[in-house]
Amino acid sequence: MADSAPYSLLIIDAAQVLTLTGGAPDQPLAGPDASGWTIIEHGYVACVADKIAAVGPMSELNRARIGPETRLLDATGRVVMPGLVECHTHLVFGGNRAHEFERKLRGETYLDILASGGGILSTVRATRAASEAELLASALQHLAGFRHYGITTLEAKSGYGLDRDTELRLVRVARAAGQQQAVRVVPTFLGAHVVPPEFKAAGPQAYVDFLLREVLSDLKGEAAFVDIFCEEGAFPLDVARYYLEQAHKMGFGLKIHAEQLHDLGGCEMAAALGATSVDHCDYLTPAAAARIARQTQGRTVAVLLPLVPLFLRQQQFAAGREFIDGGLPVALSTDFNPGSCPSKNLWLAVSVACLKMGLSPKEAVAAVTRNAASALGLAADCGSLEPGKRADILVLNVGSVAEIPYWLGENPVREVIIGGELG
Ligand code: NIG
Ligand code: FE
Repeated sequence: MADSAPYSLLIIDAAQVLTLTGGAPDQPLAGPDASGWTIIEHGYVACVADKIAAVGPMSELNRARIGPETRLLDATGRVVMPGLVECHTHLVFGGNRAHEFERKLRGETYLDILASGGGILSTVRATRAASEAELLASALQHLAGFRHYGITTLEAKSGYGLDRDTELRLVRVARAAGQQQAVRVVPTFLGAHVVPPEFKAAGPQAYVDFLLREVLSDLKGEAAFVDIFCEEGAFPLDVARYYLEQAHKMGFGLKIHAEQLHDLGGCEMAAALGATSVDHCDYLTPAAAARIARQTQGRTVAVLLPLVPLFLRQQQFAAGREFIDGGLPVALSTDFNPGSCPSKNLWLAVSVACLKMGLSPKEAVAAVTRNAASALGLAADCGSLEPGKRADILVLNVGSVAEIPYWLGENPVREVIIGGELG
């Protein structure tokens, strides 16, 4: 991009530009850096085509680059920030689980419902019964909802097929959904979500052997990450380790659902294998989190999902405050799925993370932008407002970063810009 090219889009007079710059370039933020990133008061953001060209205070705006083709966006009194990165969702599924919500309200636990053949297995039945066109239509509808909340990049896991054809279909649907609208979709393979009924007798090891033998080779170039649910009633630690080791050898990035309901040691195990993220972490101890931070030099991101314990009526929330203080970068996500979080409101997750996990507003904002981008291996590309990064930008209806988690449950988004295009 020529340094003199006229700006195609220019956002001016923002009360605060949340740049998310600071710390080591393109690395996730932890420790004091998680809240030490730069805010520009009375600032601008300029784009050329799909990239950010310049960011700074209004007093330094190069007016020579404003031409007849420049679209001006007035952000007087408002916050301007990077588009949200939603780094953990189960976007593609059939049906819903409203009937189980009532069981939960009567006192049944998540694992009770799963053990009775419901839970994830109930969504597997509904997903297998749905056509590809139905799954795509539903994914597109949910993506439109996410975009309305300012999500500009979203990770989408498979995991409600649990057989070769349906799992491949779910990854295909996620990719197609990404191509048919503006929100970028990053597919993850979660074929190892739970053991399907067909493998109940043979067991978890036989099922992951099947995935490794008959499914993963067809996913090269189709799914960026391989994920597994390491939990009682899902996959034990030794099987999860074996599966992730093999997936790593095949060239996939690694993720894990771990320490959601019990401390089985899944997060440390996956981090030692180089996992890009370890997700849930409600039962991860601060001591183990600090060990992960040291061993991975702050590269593995803990993806915390505060709406999940809320929705599952669980008292235990991840110790986000201690994780950050111990040097572990924290990202936040909804975990959008029909069982443990049927919400797309990532802003609500930000508020609940402040209230229940001890994050500050600046740390929580870093967790849904720069650190969430790192949790998808995309930190060099998005998650901060810097020249050369994707022009994924939000204009909010609030005037300061402190107001973001304060308006509990509201959607503060006024404008969403994806790849330089105002939608
Ligand atoms: O991330 N914990 C495992 N999987 C999902 C929930 C899936 C479901 O209940 O349908 C999660 O919470
Ligand atoms: Fe999940």
